[in-house]
Amino acid sequence: MPRTALIAGNWKMNGLAGDLGFFGEVARAAADSPADILVCPPATLLALAAKTCSGTAISVGGQDCHARESGAHTGDVSAVMLRDAGADYVILGHSERRADHGESDAIVRSKAEAALAAGLIPIICVGETQAERESGQAETVVARQLAGSLPENPQKMELVIAYEPVWAIGTGLTASEADVAEIHAAIRKRLPDPLTTRILYGGSVKPANAESLLSLADVDGALVGGASLKASDFTSIIGAVGR
Ligand code: 13P
Repeated sequence: MPRTALIAGNWKMNGLAGDLGFFGEVARAAADSPADILVCPPATLLALAAKTCSGTAISVGGQDCHARESGAHTGDVSAVMLRDAGADYVILGHSERRADHGESDAIVRSKAEAALAAGLIPIICVGETQAERESGQAETVVARQLAGSLPENPQKMELVIAYEPVWAIGTGLTASEADVAEIHAAIRKRLPDPLTTRILYGGSVKPANAESLLSLADVDGALVGGASLKASDFTSIIGAVGR
């Protein structure tokens, strides 16, 4: 495989300082893994998590950033600040942010450009709703989100795409292997740098389904929500890479 797998945990709005013991167990799995390992804790824990993970094979990342570098934006965090706190990556355009905060493709694109300028690797999320899938629109929706959210500047840049069908997030439902393969292939052919850009699958990834999802041709890793909160589940997903 020309691309190094990436197993990323998205803690969402979960995690307190007392939960950082998680990283001890995960660090051992990360050291033995051929994959890149990433955890995106809430912003409150980012600097502490980065410190805890220093010297391990675990990277940390943010879950969102503002498009501006600094200024009068109460409550927001910039890409430069994430980088300063020790982040290497930032998740952008997650469906929960698109739904809860009305983030459009254009907003996601401007955040992605800010992330790249700050030296972060953006993980740009796309994915259809259940209604869109049922009406046969899944590929069209994902293609539209990609076209609108990818940074415009054409220079070579590292970014990651996460395909997360909205109806599979936190529901225990996963897309079928055929559907995942079809959408990932459709994403791949629309990427400016298809050979090197990693495409993750997200949506109820767990120890029981990780191996089969990760073995699909265009799946370069996973973006894991609920199962990334428990060290034993997350390490077992890490262990599924390349088996
Ligand atoms: P779950 O793994 O809990 O379904 O969440 C997926 C997700 O939204 C990761 O970003």
